[in-house]
Amino acid sequence: MIRFTLRHGRRLALCAVLATLPLAASAQQAILEGERFHPQEGQHGMAATSHYLASKIARDVMQDGGNAVDAAVTAGFALAVTQPRSGNIGGGGFMLISDEKSDKVIAIDYREKAPAAAYETMFQNDQGEAVSELSRYTHNASGVPGTVAGLAMALEQYGTLSLAEALAPAIRLAEDGFEIPPRFANGLRDARERLSQWDASRAVFYKEDGSLYAAGETFRQPDLAATLKRIAAQGPREFYEGKTADLIAQEMEKHDGLMTAEDLAAYQPTIREPVHGTYRGYDVYAMSPPSSGGAHIVQMLNILEGYDIGGMGFNSARTIHVMSEAMKRAYADRAEYLGDTDFVDVPLEGITSKAYADELREQIDLGRATPSDTIAAGDPLPYESNETTHFSIADDNGLAVSNTYTLNFSYGSGIVVDGAGFLLNNEMDDFSAKPGTPNAYGLIGGEANKVEPNKRMLSSMTPTIVKKEGKNFLITGSPGGSRIITTTLQVVMNVIDHDMNVQSAVSVPRIHHQWLPDEIRIEEGISPDTIGLLEAMGHTVSQQAAMGAAQSVLIEDGHYYGGADPRRSTSSALGL
Ligand code: DON
Repeated sequence: MIRFTLRHGRRLALCAVLATLPLAASAQQAILEGERFHPQEGQHGMAATSHYLASKIARDVMQDGGNAVDAAVTAGFALAVTQPRSGNIGGGGFMLISDEKSDKVIAIDYREKAPAAAYETMFQNDQGEAVSELSRYTHNASGVPGTVAGLAMALEQYGTLSLAEALAPAIRLAEDGFEIPPRFANGLRDARERLSQWDASRAVFYKEDGSLYAAGETFRQPDLAATLKRIAAQGPREFYEGKTADLIAQEMEKHDGLMTAEDLAAYQPTIREPVHGTYRGYDVYAMSPPSSGGAHIVQMLNILEGYDIGGMGFNSARTIHVMSEAMKRAYADRAEYLGDTDFVDVPLEGITSKAYADELREQIDLGRATPSDTIAAGDPLPYESNETTHFSIADDNGLAVSNTYTLNFSYGSGIVVDGAGFLLNNEMDDFSAKPGTPNAYGLIGGEANKVEPNKRMLSSMTPTIVKKEGKNFLITGSPGGSRIITTTLQVVMNVIDHDMNVQSAVSVPRIHHQWLPDEIRIEEGISPDTIGLLEAMGHTVSQQAAMGAAQSVLIEDGHYYGGADPRRSTSSALGL
């Protein structure tokens, strides 16, 4: 009863339990801890996003009779206005939609594509060395954006709103403006040098004299409003074939970018089969290639299923040890095998099979860290301020949406399309500029992820939906570059293995290992005793900044529980 109550964080039920049972002090303490992170509740649906305005808009859509997909698409466009560091129309992402009624989970792949003129060595100098400046901060850093086509496809498949209706709140926010939260002002302050290099970016994000907007002021984006209005009036192809496409093509031409009007006209999102696995009787669906997320979350869960994680305890040294060992092995496979399956064969069946996990588990020494292969390991560059954004939405018609989309770095390449008012992504940096050279997240890629024309660059984005006995149960995912897969893994484990309510599951400290560099990265809040035990097993442990922002929804017994990640000050979960 207590474990049940903790997961749901139902305050009334808790009070009843406390009033009627003579609880031991430790059990009372456990309940108090559950209360410290109590989730938001709803009877008919839940929206958890990284921005309170987007969460409110999504909830309002469902309150007015729209479904979870209507809410997700509307929130996706609203985030492009309210959170330009990651919300976008100039980037791309992945959306999982689970429809309980048809028992189907589909994945919409709206990842960016390399332009047709892209080539393998485009980010190398004459000596054949990778030049990160080229893949991150130039017009060639951008893949052909997928967001507008992807969100429109979701609406066509499952929505009840028209595209114009789904765009209306975003247009209003861009035109009339919104009050700037401190996080927005701080982000633009920190990115000023990078964004100010470009006239169009400076004009959108800074005042006429170049000074900063302050929290509390109103922020308006007239060019973006005009772009969104054109899309509302003419449909999604306007972005790819209309005036917006012309503006992008002109921007590219002016700065020797490879992307052309033909690349834009040729862009199409794709419906894919998500990766499916099971974990302790739950069905886990997550994003398939060109994301590595689904393959490796299922692989790690398969390895970890062989241990009594609940019994070993949350973030105990033994638990962190086996998690790290599973993570190392998954990320080593990622570097070797993962890429866009439209171009390369990825051994997905093998990576996600229980038998392969058994074999990998046998290699794990329970008392000793296995040193990672150090070949070609590079120092990951600082990437703490980068941001992608994830949102999770569910309704009481059995629809659930898990969406992660991004510009790659915060504010992408930093380049606004002149006259169109939106930022371009720098997703081309997710290709391996040169096999063996790490990208911005320290991730090594091989041949499978080399640059090729029209190819999608490998991603770590892991929108995930866990089902229990055929019903949508947990909807989660996260930003965080290389740490996305392990962050999402821990939310799933916290709920299933450690019986946490969804708010606790997203709030508690996380750990991460990505094979190279050979270290367990931890957030603050892991005890020094535990760190000491891990070091005695041969691990290097390094405490660094917070990881991810796993906006999540949990559904049980017809109740909707939302966990907004406290790692972002604007996060919000709202029920209805
Ligand atoms: O697709 C990927 O894996 C990366 N472009 C995601 C970047 C990211 O999550 C940045 N921030 N947190």
